[in-house]
Amino acid sequence: MLGRVVLSREQIANVIRRMAEEIDSDLEGRSPVFIGVLKGCVYFFTALTQELAHSVEVDFIQVSSYGSGTTSSGTVILVKDITADVRDRDVYLVEDIVDTGTTLSDVVHLIRARHPRSVQVVTLLSKPSRRKVEIDVDFLGFEIDDIFVVGFGLDYAEQYRNLPDIHEFVPEGHA
Ligand code: PRP
Repeated sequence: MLGRVVLSREQIANVIRRMAEEIDSDLEGRSPVFIGVLKGCVYFFTALTQELAHSVEVDFIQVSSYGSGTTSSGTVILVKDITADVRDRDVYLVEDIVDTGTTLSDVVHLIRARHPRSVQVVTLLSKPSRRKVEIDVDFLGFEIDDIFVVGFGLDYAEQYRNLPDIHEFVPEGHA
């Protein structure tokens, strides 16, 4: 069941402006490739990159964890690879949420194996209380408690991604 708004569209827009300013300062002298981790990243990725003053190259990767539901299962597979050559480039990996850290940890390893100059992690949301794999987040929007959230890219069973605000979601039988 769709619940209360946890983060409004205004709060999201404000934090994205702040993050874009920080990232713009970091982009001086770099050769950036922004890689969005599909599908959850899409709304955040477009909003963030459009706020940047610098021109950046964009690309996408898609990985999938086995199983479905409201928790990650801990094993990811590569569904769609990037097309960019990231050797000696400065990579910014863009995620909607870091939960257990499994997805980003695997994606960081995969990208590092291609010899970029640097890899930085950008995420709108983080749930530090759920972490199983340590991940250095370089640019963070919000830390949230261990509640299931949907909207602004985040889904439940592939629904609700297009909601403009981020809501709490309570699966049937968990109310
Ligand atoms: C979600 C989210 C992150 C990942 C975070 O993706 O977009 O990629 O889970 O969880 P973790 O830190 O526990 O690995 P999901 O696999 O649901 O795919 P989606 O982006 O297509 O929704």
